[in-house]
Amino acid sequence: MNSEKESTPGAQEEKMPEPCIMVIFGASGDLTKRMLVPSLYELFLDDLLPENFTVAGFSRKELNTESFRESLKEGIKDFGEAESFNEEKWEKFKKNIFYFISDYEDINSYKDLKEKLDKIDAEKNIGGNRLLYMAVPPEGLLGIIENLGKSGLNKNNSEDSWTRIILEKPFGHDLESALKLNKKVNRYFSEKQIYRIDHYLGKESVQNILVTRFANGIFEPLWNRNYIDHVEITSSESIGIENRGGYYDHTGALRDVVQNHLLQLLGYVAMEPPSLFESNSIRDESLKVFQSLRQIKKEDVNNSVLRGQYTASHIRGKSVPGYREEKDVDPDSRTETYVAMKFYVDNWRWGGVPFYIRTGKRLPTRVTEVVIHFKPTPHHLFKRRTDISQSYNMLVIRIQPDEGILIKFGMKVPGGGFQVQNVNMDFHYSDLKDHNLHSAYEKLILDCMLGDSTLFIRADAVEACWKFIQPILDEWKENHEIKIYGYPAGTWGPECADDLIAGKDFMWRYPCKNLADDGTYCEL
Ligand SMILES: NC(=O)c1ccc[n+]([C@@H]2O[C@H](COP(=O)([O-])OP(=O)(O)OC[C@H]3O[C@@H](n4cnc5c(N)ncnc54)[C@H](OP(=O)(O)O)[C@@H]3O)[C@@H](O)[C@H]2O)c1
Repeated sequence: MNSEKESTPGAQEEKMPEPCIMVIFGASGDLTKRMLVPSLYELFLDDLLPENFTVAGFSRKELNTESFRESLKEGIKDFGEAESFNEEKWEKFKKNIFYFISDYEDINSYKDLKEKLDKIDAEKNIGGNRLLYMAVPPEGLLGIIENLGKSGLNKNNSEDSWTRIILEKPFGHDLESALKLNKKVNRYFSEKQIYRIDHYLGKESVQNILVTRFANGIFEPLWNRNYIDHVEITSSESIGIENRGGYYDHTGALRDVVQNHLLQLLGYVAMEPPSLFESNSIRDESLKVFQSLRQIKKEDVNNSVLRGQYTASHIRGKSVPGYREEKDVDPDSRTETYVAMKFYVDNWRWGGVPFYIRTGKRLPTRVTEVVIHFKPTPHHLFKRRTDISQSYNMLVIRIQPDEGILIKFGMKVPGGGFQVQNVNMDFHYSDLKDHNLHSAYEKLILDCMLGDSTLFIRADAVEACWKFIQPILDEWKENHEIKIYGYPAGTWGPECADDLIAGKDFMWRYPCKNLADDGTYCEL
């Protein structure tokens, strides 16, 4: 008997999660300290955690409950919301945090853990609910899942309780490893127990794409090939790879950002209206988008996908190393820190509409946005008095930072004549003063406790996204003729990325100018 009940999206507003123990595997790591526990602490301050909610850290590092709590406290102070640390509240919160030293490879560690969890459960009257959070690097995942299965920690403890597992991205390194991971986790957990987290989907502005489209009469009638010229999705970061050279050099921008975050965003932008606002209806519709992606053929990869790598530069007078000079990066690396691509969604709604995705590190600013470029009016009445480009309307959905929506449209410049000027209608979430925006991790952890899987990624969606990406990876690996372009850190990537957007009046939207002193590009 499976006690998993399907919860309605938006359940957060309606009910408090049932008591549970959240077991964090890899609890000594960065994610736990930087994201998970600061998010739990915020939920605690907002009275959104259930009574006796308990955190059990499971990790190899020589810590004890006291030192674990201390390190988490530092994490909350360093990475949590600056004004929210409160010593008195922390003292209360920390009482339900425990640490167990483990050996991931030893089945006895899991049996021991099970006994300890049962004991805490009985003492605190938790009712058997378990949330297993996999905060370990991918190489550790398969072994832990296997031992969870073998020790019985994968099972619900009773007919009325639940056990759920949260898997962190990346969901595989390529199609083959993703299939293997899904096979392993599906062997021990039912799909309803599995929550694959992509924190982009926890962002308020991403969920708002669905509300903008499906709760308003004005947008959806225009949301198709008849009125939309093209769609652009940009995710830029101003930082480089920081201290993650070892990880990044084996990953690259296509795997790190496009395969997961940006394709998930695309799913929301391009999906058909679901018939019900229910987890599987919504996820069915985004899956159909991924299944409709036109496969980029081997011979088209070079023309449709462009990769780049940042080179040393000066940003605001300060020198910045190139990617190949970064720590733990191969000096001859051909790993991309930038990708721009053009592709199509082959279905009735989007037939012929090009989609453009662009992501990169060491670009001039940190921004993620979806830009819907509408077609121009059929006749340019004011053509002689204005720039042609001014007659295009744009809807910009800003995902981060400063989440919001911007509409650009032409307006008559006051005074004589008919000069057209582009003006903005701009909404910022920060203007909603009385609304407390939860961070993506707060939202997603809470959703998982409530059994709402809407914003989590199903196995079939992961596989469909990898099927789209894999031929590009293969071609890059096999065809050494395919160039990787250098771009000076602090610029908007290789200039030749502009050639991908072919229309004579179009170019990428540049939310700010190049910051590097040298704005040229070169070929590596
Ligand atoms: N950090 C972030 O901000 C972030 C953001 C998004 C997603 N993620 C994802 O979250 C997961 C964890 O990230 P993280 O940054 O916390 O990683 P991490 O700090 O490198 O590792 C977390 C913990 O896992 C354990 N570990 C390390 N290597 C392992 C292995 N080979 N097998 C089993 N356990 C191992 C270590 O704990 P012990 O040695 O004590 O066992 C380590 O403290 C990754 O999948 C990552 O991609 C992280």
